[in-house]
Amino acid sequence: MSVLAKLVIVPALLALVKSEFPFELDEDLEFQPSITRSNDPNSYRLPDEFDPTHCDIEVTPYFETAPAGKEPFTFDGEAIHYLKPKKDGLSSIILQDNVKRVTGVTLTTANGVPVLLHDTNPLERIRQYFFLKINLRDGTTLVNDQEYVLHISYIGNINETPLTRGMFRGSYKDSNGRVRWYAGTHLQPTHGRQLFPCFDEPGFKSTYNISVIRPAHFAKTFSNMEIAETIEMGDRVKEIFYRTPRMSAYLISILISEDFTVIADNKNVTHPYRIIARSTAVNQGKYALEVGPPLTEWFDNYLGIKYYDMEPGLKNDQVASPDWASGATENWGLVSYREVRLLCEDGETNALDKMYIGTITAHELAHKWFGNYITAKWWDNVWVNEGFASYFEHFAMHEVDRSLELEAQFNIMYLQSALSADSSASTRALRHTVNSPTEVTGHFSGISYSKGASLLLMLKHYISETNFKKALNRVLSERSFNAAVPEDVYAAFKYATTGDTVVGNIDIEDFIKYWVDQPGSPVLDVHVNMETGLIELSQERFFISPSAKPTEQVWPIPLTYTFGSQPNWNDLNPTHLMWKKTDQIQKAPGQEWVIFNVQQKGLYRVNYDENNWRMLARALKENVTSIHQLNRAQIVDDVFAFMRSERMPFKLGFEVIDFLKDDGNYYSWYPATTGLNWYRNRFLHMPEVLAVYDEVLFEFLGTVIAEVGYDYVDGEPLTKTLNRLFVLSFACNIGHAECVENAVQKFKAMRAGGTPVNPNLRRHVFCAGLREGTYDDWRWLYERRLNSNNQGDEVAMLRALGCSSDEKAINEFLDMVLSDKVKAQDRANALTWLYAGNRGNAKVALQYLKKNIDAFRDAVILPASFNSVLSNIAAYLDEEGLEDMEAWLNSVQGTLPEYNVGLSAIASARSSMKWGTDRADEILEAVGHGAAHAIVPTVTLLLSTLVALMLR
Ligand SMILES: *[C@@H]1O[C@H](CO)[C@@H](O)[C@H](O)[C@H]1NC(C)=O
Ligand SMILES: *[C@@H]1O[C@H](CO)[C@@H](O)[C@H](O)[C@H]1NC(C)=O
Ligand SMILES: *[C@@H]1O[C@H](CO)[C@@H](O)[C@H](O)[C@H]1NC(C)=O
Ligand SMILES: [Zn+2]
Repeated sequence: MSVLAKLVIVPALLALVKSEFPFELDEDLEFQPSITRSNDPNSYRLPDEFDPTHCDIEVTPYFETAPAGKEPFTFDGEAIHYLKPKKDGLSSIILQDNVKRVTGVTLTTANGVPVLLHDTNPLERIRQYFFLKINLRDGTTLVNDQEYVLHISYIGNINETPLTRGMFRGSYKDSNGRVRWYAGTHLQPTHGRQLFPCFDEPGFKSTYNISVIRPAHFAKTFSNMEIAETIEMGDRVKEIFYRTPRMSAYLISILISEDFTVIADNKNVTHPYRIIARSTAVNQGKYALEVGPPLTEWFDNYLGIKYYDMEPGLKNDQVASPDWASGATENWGLVSYREVRLLCEDGETNALDKMYIGTITAHELAHKWFGNYITAKWWDNVWVNEGFASYFEHFAMHEVDRSLELEAQFNIMYLQSALSADSSASTRALRHTVNSPTEVTGHFSGISYSKGASLLLMLKHYISETNFKKALNRVLSERSFNAAVPEDVYAAFKYATTGDTVVGNIDIEDFIKYWVDQPGSPVLDVHVNMETGLIELSQERFFISPSAKPTEQVWPIPLTYTFGSQPNWNDLNPTHLMWKKTDQIQKAPGQEWVIFNVQQKGLYRVNYDENNWRMLARALKENVTSIHQLNRAQIVDDVFAFMRSERMPFKLGFEVIDFLKDDGNYYSWYPATTGLNWYRNRFLHMPEVLAVYDEVLFEFLGTVIAEVGYDYVDGEPLTKTLNRLFVLSFACNIGHAECVENAVQKFKAMRAGGTPVNPNLRRHVFCAGLREGTYDDWRWLYERRLNSNNQGDEVAMLRALGCSSDEKAINEFLDMVLSDKVKAQDRANALTWLYAGNRGNAKVALQYLKKNIDAFRDAVILPASFNSVLSNIAAYLDEEGLEDMEAWLNSVQGTLPEYNVGLSAIASARSSMKWGTDRADEILEAVGHGAAHAIVPTVTLLLSTLVALMLR
């Protein structure tokens, strides 16, 4: 049957059956739900009763000006599900729905024979669980394995911002200053049900025929597949897309717009790759097109399954959305990115954002195999999607451009953040039961991404890359167009390693399970007897909190190590597998340091006995490069964690990291700025202590600043550029005189003579320029931002605007953040940049918040974001500010649902201060400055590492 013929028949059928049940449903109707599920641990899950084989979706959107009888920013929807019961006797159909209104439902057999619905209770919308239950007439049941056609008519919302997902609207101004509308979809993970009533769980896969009836003056619509047919319908145009591959509902993607267009195209008929964006960004697609096709080809070869062979007619479009809730989302055939994550412009985009374009493209393309082709059956194991995608984010892009050093950068950007997330007592295992949409979203967390990826890296080094590749190819082939559970992944690894002895001779399934099923990660304690050469090892779960209760957990840990007399940094094959609480290794006797976890490829921290630490400290002081850069990064990250958790005295810790004073290396400094700043944040309320500590920091920073310099040099290694970006932001923020002076001078030169500031220097130059500058300087950058046509640069300026200390500017900043001059996705971050850029600004923000509480809540859209707005203010207030906040909270207690969030934020701000107060003497002593002597009244604060963790 042709597409056209079918579309004629269906409305006819609908007319026939509809007349039998002329009902109008809306949300106000009272229903008597026939199911109560509150005690069911799977209460939000669909029963596994149907196989939805195919679905036709038709969407008719209405924008600002809707025709009579239609509401602006809604759409009419028709969904026709073809489904087969998996057993006899079913008398109802349950699917998920969160549309605005369901207006009609009919059910027929495949031949069009109506199946009668219940007389009085044909439909129940069970809002709590987002269920739509369709009840058959009493006595009617469905026949196993026979095809039925379920037709649902409904109305959906085009939501105001992408933060609420589903179909959302966005806008931007064209070159004539006219507002241009578009609507996009973001359905991952539980928002397919906002686009159409559907089987909205990743384990249900079907094919989709999508059509859109758009206003005729709009641009061509984009969706997962190419347009098969275009039909003129007066002031509307209907576009019918080719059938999608068999896939989960959350991968559907539609982009309806006034003028989005293809801005870069490889024009390869068999391997098409295109970048799509608003028409005003036509010059920004070159880099994304440069990396995408080679990445696709690399995956084709590495995974042994070719992208364009997965399904006939599969395209590979990447669209840049000015409004987007996360980083990017892997919709099949039409991946959506936040604009800054896809578009790049020479002279405007900084090296960090450019690097993310490469890595995130790699991440989304990896999802084509891990996520789309095979899919985690349920979100409890979302690491099966996100762990693999995050792993390849670095390791695939590394193969396409080695100059980015992404293999090495994985350690500081992913592995160390996995260890950090895992060190909290409330961390979750990779496999973690989730039920409600909130729980599902919560499991799209650092653990699923960073720990999943780090486990894969450790596994690769443990079983060899050849076996690793073999396992991946196996699981992809076995589960293609299907759902996968971790057991499928384990079985593939077992298959790949069968007949090959791995060190330790353990069942590889057991090995992986230990890491997947248990929360936390281990610390390896190493005690070396240098006289005898006997190394005694023990392991335990690492907690950052010294008061956490130890557990009996153990992990199978692949061990690599090397030692001082003959360091070998390149043998990354584990020589031992430790999976008891304690173990021993015999080496040759000798007064020499040992290092475990060579290049930190394993997901564990390493602590040594004092003697070995001292030998490492000495070696590092004598010759910094005598220890591999990734092991230096490991040492810095571990030492800060050990001092915090009271496993290591401050004195010894600072003795070990004293080498940072001679080290200008990016990998050492990335964890160092975080660690040093963590302490500094706890001294802010003690100006004398802070002044001494800052002197120490300036001493630490000497070598690295000399090495990176204040100017960007064409052709320098990426890691040097990144190091400068992070280190100078840190230095200028803590008031490093030379840094501030240099930045202010660059800012002034830009204002006076238009000398452009290199994009890689803008973060600290703009911030310091405004912090030291006037209201006019602020206003100047404010205007410059409004005229920017580059999202990366626009957000960089937004961040800098928060650095001003001018009260008028701060109030205007707050007005701006609550208005449409800042995209909804940037508002919560913008508020944090305001306090982080200048700590005193939190007090001004608090006064503003008190007067505009509802406007704040509305502006950030999500309740969780509003909670973090409250918490973040507290984190930057001094005691006087906290008392003010506390008094205010108490006065509005009855009307403020977030009262407790505010109180606990105040408590945690106070406990941070107390931590600093209690330990200041000991720490100053450890850094060689026994008594605090100076008084510094200005209190500036470094940008805390913003947790802008974004789903991608
Ligand atoms: C869906 O579209 C394909 C072409 O892409 C067409 O062959 C098919 O008949 C359509 N309808 C169904 C129900 O598959
Ligand atoms: C299309 O891309 C493929 C894969 O990179 C390549 O082998 C082929 O030569 C390209 N075709 C054209 C016409 O460029
Ligand atoms: C420091 O160690 C590195 C690596 O072992 C070596 O190449 C270099 O020559 C040493 N430098 C000095 C000054 O000894
Ligand atoms: Zn992802």
